[in-house]
Amino acid sequence: MSSSIYIPSDVSKDAVYQALLPQLEALISDETDLIANLANISAVLKEAFDFLWVGFYLVKGEQLVLGPFQGPLACTRIGYGKGVCGAAWQTGLTQLVPDVDAFPGHIACSSASRSEIVVPVLQGGKVIMVLDIDSEYLSFFDTTDQAYLEQLAVIVANTIPLDEHQGPS
Ligand code: SME
Repeated sequence: MSSSIYIPSDVSKDAVYQALLPQLEALISDETDLIANLANISAVLKEAFDFLWVGFYLVKGEQLVLGPFQGPLACTRIGYGKGVCGAAWQTGLTQLVPDVDAFPGHIACSSASRSEIVVPVLQGGKVIMVLDIDSEYLSFFDTTDQAYLEQLAVIVANTIPLDEHQGPS
């Protein structure tokens, strides 16, 4: 398996994502374990962009449950439709939040978080997990992040065996 990832420096955000996505796809294609793959994706994104927090919440029954992440301590369970993550689960749509204090029902896991993006990962038309990223800066995420992170969500969905996930039927 690949044991290192090349992260270009002094280039645009766009260029960093373009360099990372094929490497991440190759990395997780070589490994079948879901937790191992989500852990490495979190680590690479954190290192590449120095986000405050990056990680996954997995749909388990009626809740999102904390999965692999990088960053400060986080809430472990989030209800359907609750917070930014729950909204991404409920709608199946990316939530781009320039100011978390202006998002009704935002769940403040870290008081340092100022903006957030949550991208759902869908398989067979159902949300099976969300990728959540927080920044300590207002308006840190834009449609460039959204476009590439949505591509990453498709890569993740296509890599996970259908029976790996334990979500609601
Ligand atoms: N802010 C999220 C909760 C998860 S943490 O940010 C890691 C939300 O409102 O769903």
